[in-house]
Amino acid sequence: MTDLYDLASKDRLAFWADQAKRLFWHKPFTKTLDWSNPPFAKWFEDGQLNASYNCLDRHVIAGNGDKVALLFEGEPGDTKTYTYSELLSETKKAANALVGLGVQAGDRVAIYMPMIPETIIAILAVARIGAVHSVVFGGFSSESLRSRIDDAQAKLVITADGGYRKGKAHPLKEAVDQALADGNCPSIEHVLVVERTKNEVSFGPKDLWWHEALEAAASEHVAVGFDSEHPLFILYTSGTTGKPKGILHTTGGYLTGASYTHKTVFGLKSETDIYWCTADVGWITGHSYVIYGPLVNGVTQVIYEGTPDSPSFERWWQIIAKYQVSIFYTAPTAIRTFMKIGREIVDGHDLSSLRILGSVGEPINPEAWNWYHQVVGGSRCEIVDTWWQTETGSILISPIPGAFKTKPGSAQRALPGISVGIVDENGVPVERNVAGYLTIDEPWPSMLRGVWGDPTRFKETYWNKFPGKYFAGDGARFDEDGDIWLLGRIDDVIKVSGHRLSTAEIESALVEHHWVAEAAVVGAKDEITEQAVVAFVILRQDEIADAPSETDIAKILRDWVTQKIGAIARPRQIMVVTELPKTRSGKIMRRLLRDVAEGKPVGDVTTLADSSVMSAINDKLHSGASD
Ligand code: WT7
Repeated sequence: MTDLYDLASKDRLAFWADQAKRLFWHKPFTKTLDWSNPPFAKWFEDGQLNASYNCLDRHVIAGNGDKVALLFEGEPGDTKTYTYSELLSETKKAANALVGLGVQAGDRVAIYMPMIPETIIAILAVARIGAVHSVVFGGFSSESLRSRIDDAQAKLVITADGGYRKGKAHPLKEAVDQALADGNCPSIEHVLVVERTKNEVSFGPKDLWWHEALEAAASEHVAVGFDSEHPLFILYTSGTTGKPKGILHTTGGYLTGASYTHKTVFGLKSETDIYWCTADVGWITGHSYVIYGPLVNGVTQVIYEGTPDSPSFERWWQIIAKYQVSIFYTAPTAIRTFMKIGREIVDGHDLSSLRILGSVGEPINPEAWNWYHQVVGGSRCEIVDTWWQTETGSILISPIPGAFKTKPGSAQRALPGISVGIVDENGVPVERNVAGYLTIDEPWPSMLRGVWGDPTRFKETYWNKFPGKYFAGDGARFDEDGDIWLLGRIDDVIKVSGHRLSTAEIESALVEHHWVAEAAVVGAKDEITEQAVVAFVILRQDEIADAPSETDIAKILRDWVTQKIGAIARPRQIMVVTELPKTRSGKIMRRLLRDVAEGKPVGDVTTLADSSVMSAINDKLHSGASD
């Protein structure tokens, strides 16, 4: 492994070209990187390839068609296995069905699905014909789906009647109907519906059943190559403003990053490993480490429809034992949840097949790291704490198994080929043990290529703070050994159970309610979920004359946020206040509100326009009038 570090530091571009050559190129590239117009990078520009071909056809042609690609476990306990050949045949039919519905290269297709094999088939079919997928997490509300469909001007939605969530059918098709109601989302021509839960759904003129469309479709489909920089997908993520941004990834560079890191970080032995990443495909982790990385690398992987607690907390550990999972990749929140329940649940299962344990999405505290290591990994497995983002497309900072000694709580080193720095406000590198801003100093293949439809926002958000460098939004420090410790977001993005949320987005959802005059949202420290949403609202006196009690108001507003954005954004607590702490220039001082929400003594209030505001909020809080 040290070889990789050496190779990459000797000639970074040659190193990346070598990694890219692990893919199948319909037309080989001759140029590695064009960085003449930063921040708009072009990787492997004159090459052509097909993402779906790299995930499927290639393995079948190499004689590995009978290898199992997916071991699917449904929440109710149903199972299904797909070999690479089977996955390919289904994908070909789905690709033909999409073409039959008028989807062409470059068109956007929204995917709003549960974690079932058809979701992966749908994604690979979209990519196969050069269309652009925009997966919207099934837990997002119909309104969130609508705004994402509109922003991307999607032509088609692929959904399911429902997905199983804690024993019940979560009605996805119904949410699509709501998103499209009243003539909304006019760009959508058809809705393809996978039958999963068999709950009742209403069918309109745009709706078609997936199984019928696939049955009617031809079974042969030849994948053609697309330009390396052809858009592969858009994935919406929260930023510091109210409007989510559509992060754009393109084909050649993204696939290079996803497959290289999946192989390297997990020390992959593709012949024997059974891999399981618990992420939903609605997030970037699902894109890179359920779909593209593992499938390009031809592994056998488990996918599970449900959540870790259903039907019981035993489920995950049963699955690991049943399939002899050797590589397991999950989020610290899940680890902390199991830690709280106690090790008996885990100890009751034979987890001796595990070899590598991954962590992603938020900092993993040393206690959780040690528990993961000892209880889940039997003190035998390597832990890889992987830092990356929707924007980076693939893991950038992580230990490599066996390369050096791991350290609980530190993501440690930039991967070979990646160059990171930690700088102060002026862009000057900080000393060791001093906190600063994490930057990425050289372009990398799987970097985002833009914010859909908004090149200005792309430049301003990521490239303006430290000219020439990508600014990630995270704080970090190097320790005395030069290992990196991530310190969390420095902006108004918060992380709840590894899900990324924007305080501004939740605030705008709140003020859309006619009772709310003003809202401030903070991420308060939470033992299990890392951060939790806490909202402070000022009510409109004229609107709430005959409104219910404050407790009811808080409950109604929490439901409102769920309806507007989705359950993941539901505030843990809403406090009704009469004023918010503001600076003289009118900026809300969230730092002070965070102190209140965390039950800490309120810090320095000298910059407040009215310093009595905080004592009023504190008094109110201690009188118990909150949700
Ligand atoms: C933000 C990106 C990475 C895929 C899933 C989340 C935080 C992510 C770690 C880690 C500390 C981490 C950062 C980052 N984050 N991984 N290993 N240690 N923080 O992707 O939703 O785009 O969120 O997640 O704050 O900026 P995302």
